[in-house]
Amino acid sequence: AKEPVRVLVTGAAGQIGYALVPMIARGVMLGPDQPVILHMLDIPPAAEALNGVKMELVDAAFPLLKGVVATTDVVEACSGVSVAVMVGGFPRKEGMERKDVMSKNVSIYKAQASALEKHAATNCKVLVVANPANTNALILKEFAPSIPEKNITCLTRLDHNRALGQVSERLNVQVSDVKNVIIWGNHSSTQYPDVNHASVKTPAGEKPVRTLVADDQWLHTDFITTVQQRGAAIIKARKFSSALSAASSACDHIRDWVLGTPEGTWVSMGVYSDGSYNVPAGLIYSFPVTCKNGEWSIVQGLSIDEFSRKKLDLTAQELSEEKALAYSCLS
Ligand code: NAI
Repeated sequence: AKEPVRVLVTGAAGQIGYALVPMIARGVMLGPDQPVILHMLDIPPAAEALNGVKMELVDAAFPLLKGVVATTDVVEACSGVSVAVMVGGFPRKEGMERKDVMSKNVSIYKAQASALEKHAATNCKVLVVANPANTNALILKEFAPSIPEKNITCLTRLDHNRALGQVSERLNVQVSDVKNVIIWGNHSSTQYPDVNHASVKTPAGEKPVRTLVADDQWLHTDFITTVQQRGAAIIKARKFSSALSAASSACDHIRDWVLGTPEGTWVSMGVYSDGSYNVPAGLIYSFPVTCKNGEWSIVQGLSIDEFSRKKLDLTAQELSEEKALAYSCLS
């Protein structure tokens, strides 16, 4: 039998946490033959709720779940973990300045970076979910210099999956037959959902989405804004932000990273830019990636038309501004 893997979920008493931990305990994230030990971190005001989640995990009697650590101590939470899913953060509240929210999250991610660096397993893979996800991941990277930069990522897979969902609804095809959409840039409303290289499996073979969607106008307008604004639409409908889809996409992100992407398929991940596609190096930016042997690589050589170029640059610009704002909170 395989040794259990320790998986950290921060903000585990929150609503994404509540959807995510049972998925992990069922093997959705690391596979149906991989035992896990869950480490759940939250802050003291949520300690009782966190303990309630632990009670439910016990009650669910998951065969793969070999232990649960529920704690408000960041060192205990980070000790020995090989996967860290960072869902905890400070939400923007009504009337708060952007800078104040950034400042709260910068201090959270700085502290948690140090704890991970000192106490996590070597080669721990980190996924930041909490917003501002790209910039929180960047701060985590800066303050955990001994964790390889390739191990620190942020979640844009939810946006990627949303784009697959929109194409499947529009073309009336199964979502599993759509592939290779791309989310470029920030997990924010400046992200660029790109279908220029996406395709659909049809009885007549694989067809580019561009040729199947007759209405080019839709692809350049409503498709993009629907994906960009989907988070807000969910909040409006549910009165809470997306949780089950965020949790499911976080599992997809880690599973593909660890177990590999299928041949011929790429996914979107927020990763440390190496300057590919003329995206400034030193930002955490969402790119199309393939994964193999536990490592991602950015898909190279895709053509970028003029329309796309502007969108790639706009979201990079926003990330550069966020980075500057985050750094101004450090000094
Ligand atoms: P929530 O408010 O229900 O849960 C957040 C939890 O984090 C709370 O239990 C809170 O006590 C905890 N927390 C706060 N500070 C912490 C700290 N320093 N250490 C550990 N835990 C801490 O929020 P929800 O809905 O679960 O969302 C979590 C985050 O994920 C938010 O920042 C949200 O904006 C973001 N998000 C990101 C998505 C993405 O695609 N990247 C999609 C959906 C949400």
